[in-house]
Amino acid sequence: MSLQLNGPLNTLESPARSPIKRILVLSYSQTGQLAEITQSIVAPLQQSGHFAVHIETLRPVKPYPFPWRFFSFLDAFPESAQLVAPALQPLTLTGDEDFDLVILPYQVWFLAPSLPITAFLKHPLAKKLLAGKPVVTVIACRNMWMLAQEKMKGLLAACGARLLDNVVLVDPSPTMTTLVTTPLWLLSGKRDFLPGLPVAGVDAASIKAASRFGFALRDALQNDQERGTAPLLTGLKAANSDPNLLFSEKAGTRSFYLWGKLLRAIGEPGQWHRRPFLLLYVVFLITLILTIVPLSLLIQAALRPFLQRKFAALKQKFDEPSGSGIERMSLYEL
Ligand SMILES: Cc1cc2nc3c(=O)[nH]c(=O)nc-3n(C[C@H](O)[C@H](O)[C@H](O)COP(=O)(O)O)c2cc1C
Repeated sequence: MSLQLNGPLNTLESPARSPIKRILVLSYSQTGQLAEITQSIVAPLQQSGHFAVHIETLRPVKPYPFPWRFFSFLDAFPESAQLVAPALQPLTLTGDEDFDLVILPYQVWFLAPSLPITAFLKHPLAKKLLAGKPVVTVIACRNMWMLAQEKMKGLLAACGARLLDNVVLVDPSPTMTTLVTTPLWLLSGKRDFLPGLPVAGVDAASIKAASRFGFALRDALQNDQERGTAPLLTGLKAANSDPNLLFSEKAGTRSFYLWGKLLRAIGEPGQWHRRPFLLLYVVFLITLILTIVPLSLLIQAALRPFLQRKFAALKQKFDEPSGSGIERMSLYEL
């Protein structure tokens, strides 16, 4: 699915302020899932007629394949974990545009922001475009995004951007199921590769309901709320974190980082001599997934009564800034 450029382009070319508010939306999606979610959020802004929405599609010089081949999928982890960005094709922006709001949707790759998004944030133009600007991040992934968002915060801070909100949509199936269905989807191109297993990815109802964020942004922008420091999307169940996954995310992040360092010392992305080590790593990773993930979930379930306070504090931290409250849902429900 492709996103449409909308809004008078001449208002984007001039750095002078215009009465119409300008919104920059970044776009990269392999299966179309994140593009569909972005479209659901952006449509109310486009349809209101009050905004010039510029959608910038990111195109890596060397495109990532979809469906992925086994080795190219694994081969993406060292650079993802170490935030080593690939080259992007030239952007259509010059850096002199002056946006009122930036919507930054991203998918998670190996517990980090996906490489095309990292590439944008490390692009020389990103600082010019994002410095001082309010940013809404939108994550769509399997279900492990908490530490990726911590990395995202660092990348945004390096650009001088102001993170106002974070929206998260995840695959609704249980973690151990998605650890099977997601790789099958990404390697086969089919969401329902194995009969009997749930369809992989974010469910259609959640994608449609994401339009509530677009309507709320429309109202907030019309009241100049993006100029303040308070989040614009509270009370809309924007980010419902699950701290039970934090232990697994930490273990995974550490192993991706250390093995990633080793693999990067061995060779460049795509070089054949990384393959034996990637194979070794995949054995280690599958062992990790089959042991650490279920074990940590089980232990945490058993300890839940004793860890309630700690978990509540962690949940609050990772739900921020937009939160998981639902008090404004009725205002924007379709
Ligand atoms: C290389 C790769 C690594 C991924 N790693 C993670 C991950 O660590 N955590 C997660 O929740 N989802 C992960 N995913 C799933 C993606 O976040 C995303 O949901 C999926 O790729 C569809 O995104 P799309 O909109 O680009 O098609 C990964 C996907 C890819 C391709």
